Amino acid sequence: QARVFEGGPATRVQTYSASLLKGPTSTLRALPDNYLGPILNLQQGQKVRIFFNNRLQEPSIIHWHGLHVPQHSDGHPMYSIQPGEQYVYEFEVLNRAGTSLYHSHAHDLTAEQVYRGLAGLIVVNDADEAKLDLPRGEFDLPLVIQDRRFDQHNQLQYLHAMPERMMGFLGDMILVNGKPQAEFNVKSRAYRFRAVNGSNSRIYKLGWDDGTPLTAIGTDAGLLAQPETRPYIMLAPGERVDLWLDFSGRAVGSRLTLYSLPYSGALPGMHGGMGMMHGKLAQGAKFPIAVFKVNERVADSPKLPKTLVPFQRLSEADVDNRDNPIPIALSIRHMRPLLNGLSFSMDRVMDYERVALGSIKKIRIFHDHDGSEGEHGGGMGMGRMGGMRRGGRSHDGEEPGGQGMGGMMMDMAHPIHLHGQQYQILSRNGANTKAADYATVKDGFIDSGWKDTVLVMPGEEVSIIKPFQDYKGLFLYHCHNLEHEDLGMMRQYYIG
Ligand code: C2O
Ligand code: CU
Ligand code: CU
Repeated sequence: QARVFEGGPATRVQTYSASLLKGPTSTLRALPDNYLGPILNLQQGQKVRIFFNNRLQEPSIIHWHGLHVPQHSDGHPMYSIQPGEQYVYEFEVLNRAGTSLYHSHAHDLTAEQVYRGLAGLIVVNDADEAKLDLPRGEFDLPLVIQDRRFDQHNQLQYLHAMPERMMGFLGDMILVNGKPQAEFNVKSRAYRFRAVNGSNSRIYKLGWDDGTPLTAIGTDAGLLAQPETRPYIMLAPGERVDLWLDFSGRAVGSRLTLYSLPYSGALPGMHGGMGMMHGKLAQGAKFPIAVFKVNERVADSPKLPKTLVPFQRLSEADVDNRDNPIPIALSIRHMRPLLNGLSFSMDRVMDYERVALGSIKKIRIFHDHDGSEGEHGGGMGMGRMGGMRRGGRSHDGEEPGGQGMGGMMMDMAHPIHLHGQQYQILSRNGANTKAADYATVKDGFIDSGWKDTVLVMPGEEVSIIKPFQDYKGLFLYHCHNLEHEDLGMMRQYYIG
């Protein structure tokens, strides 16, 4: 990495530029009148150099969420730069075609910086995708969903109060591509909408309210092997889903409203739901996201392909730790969300799990109610650095069992994101969920594609298979509820 001092006025404008070392021409497009950053259009195999100039008045660093890049270009908070400094990223695009995002990753500042606009889309294209007859150009559109609050002067409002920190910040106004009351004028044909949950903590249940199912052609990191249809699709912070929305045959003048449909159980159920305690729009409430107005009748439309881009499905036969999965234990104790019983600290950047370069591991993500996992965590292939436990235990819960506020009552949904290479979802176990709540979300998961963020509902257990190839180094994993991330629900693994 290079750190070069760059003077100049301190404004809150962010500058990104990409210069091409080789490969086809990339185009940078910006969404009009938008507080989000420009869309980075990348091509698989392209070598990219990005100059990040920090013109904020506080430290920052950018992470390319979803891209598989070397440690020095991954935006670890230890690389945060000061106001006026520049950080130069260099990497080759190894990803398959798909939708990713970039955002601030400065520790303890991520949530507010993202909230105030330090985020944008990354679109990767590749040769496999080019062979498919998918909607392109004006028919391939972003659908970045965010919730915000505005004060009486119509300015973005962010709160650091305790319910917001603990549960995650919830806005009461829904923005799509940076605008409220989003409306898309569409032709009567198929579209590809790249839905991205760019919210700090809100989880969407995407669906039409007349029960028409939704079709997905891609998840977090790329196209699916074949399209998947669901009655609704859950989209947690950091997750992406490429939707195939087909308006063929619709009359001019028809209006279709995409909603977030009601669901329950994502937040702890104290006193009728903690969700009600902060903000006017509860987590799990029903509200409209965007309206699609058919304004022109056209004859031609691409047809939904039966096959998209097939890839190898990983199974337990591919891992070397089948009976000893790496644990990621989720818990909340003393009002602090923890991973494996510990809280991330920049003073302990050298705490990490060790994973062998080139290995493929099974990882088990589960809610930890007895606090035991922090004690004997560390499955096969993982070592822990000395000093970690001392540091973590000192303020993160010594008491036996560690239940108290941290037990069942505080069980909540966590979108778990792992940096580096994408993973596949092996299984989901909802046996310990509250059945009535789980029934409102369980048909909305698309687990067949490559993922980098997975929503784990209260009581739920998710097993994933993740390859650790190509790059040695230190990479993060964390809850993508950005308030949880800032509170330290983050750890890291060292590949080497
Ligand atoms: Cu989208 Cu480590 O984050
Ligand atoms: Cu990431
Ligand atoms: Cu969380």
